Amino acid sequence: MKRVLQSKNPLHGEISVPGDKSIGHRAVIFGSIAHGSSRVSNLSGGEDNQRTVQAFKDLGVKISSEGEMLRIDGNGWEGLTAPKTIIDCGNSGTTMRLLSGVLAGRPFTTILDGDQSLRRRPMQRVIEPLSRMGADLVGREGKGLAPLEINGGNLKGIEYSMPIASAQVKSAILLAGLQAEGVTIIEEPQNSRNHTELMIKGFGGEVRLGGRHVSVQGGQTLHGKDVHIPGDISSAAFFLVAAALRPASRIVVRRVGVNPTRDGVIEILRRMGAEIELLNATIETGEPVADLKVTGRRLKGVEIGAELVTRTIDEYPILAIAAALAEGDTVISGVKELRFKESDRISAMSEGLRRLGVDVEEREDGLTIRGRETLQGNKVRSFGDHRIAMSLAIAGLCAEGGVEIDDAQCVAISFPTFFDLLDEICLP
Ligand code: S3P
Repeated sequence: MKRVLQSKNPLHGEISVPGDKSIGHRAVIFGSIAHGSSRVSNLSGGEDNQRTVQAFKDLGVKISSEGEMLRIDGNGWEGLTAPKTIIDCGNSGTTMRLLSGVLAGRPFTTILDGDQSLRRRPMQRVIEPLSRMGADLVGREGKGLAPLEINGGNLKGIEYSMPIASAQVKSAILLAGLQAEGVTIIEEPQNSRNHTELMIKGFGGEVRLGGRHVSVQGGQTLHGKDVHIPGDISSAAFFLVAAALRPASRIVVRRVGVNPTRDGVIEILRRMGAEIELLNATIETGEPVADLKVTGRRLKGVEIGAELVTRTIDEYPILAIAAALAEGDTVISGVKELRFKESDRISAMSEGLRRLGVDVEEREDGLTIRGRETLQGNKVRSFGDHRIAMSLAIAGLCAEGGVEIDDAQCVAISFPTFFDLLDEICLP
């Protein structure tokens, strides 16, 4: 249980957020399957990234700490060996789905399991294409749910048109494709985050991109590389929104990844009337990075359509808080995928907002939120979902009497220092 008190002060400060979770998983994976050593700096200490580190240790990769950095000594695909135990992916969908792609090509048996939330999430979306490539993957009770048993090897490239846009599924197929005979061609309904593609290039591999297509040739050799991970825009988003909706606030979040496949939150906040500047923009290890400066003011409600889904996918919970405190209605549509995240985020946010006195209409694939001047304080539930907990904490700053969040320790999944930073920017 965590209490977040109402705070009437404008927010001020310069902060840094943990390294990007998506890029962190990939840096550990690519370091492990490449030849030679890689050093990864600014990897998040969040539980999800640490699950991927442990998984590759379980698969026999030498991974050690070197000061603040993680050193990975990869021996190529053949350096991965059958684990002695079940691999526990915890709460991390990215660990489970991307590892499925890695293990689909390895000639041994692995079992991947996770917590209660991960055991409910759909895995058929990776089982189907990876099986078509020749791997043998079996989900619990044949239902496409974890635990997954994977018997890999002898993959063939496929042409695959993805029924849903998902960077995790695309990445799983690309990782299998790198081990397959021939070419693998993937078509996505909407471009999802491209960190895997950038990392293949960064580690000396080749990947072809064109519109909504991406393809890789199997049998490539990757080489170790040092990777610096930018700050996570999905973690920065909580503070961007907290400052954007509060007049006279001014914060800077330093060195945040602003890859155009991830920056929907900036576009939407600007449409809502927020002032966000990108300063000192550079490219670091292939990824665009900038300092984000936000100046607060009263926001206005907007329509957020399906065209923004992949660029914004993890930021809807916190944008729902921005909407709840904006002038007018915000209509969010085309986001059915939110029902399959760490929790059913459409239903979790509807419940949380209603408990804070907000008028919400919940639909199968979206939400309409009627903005208010302030929120009512109450007890709220995170459903063990880190992004729901952090979104409700930001709501608490604007709620009369604050909020009491159950199960708030789940923020450690992606952002263990979240509550410390929140205290820091709330200081008068
Ligand atoms: C991720 C992709 C997205 C996102 C998740 C991380 C990734 O999931 O929601 O938090 O690192 O590839 P989907 O691929 O299911 O959309």
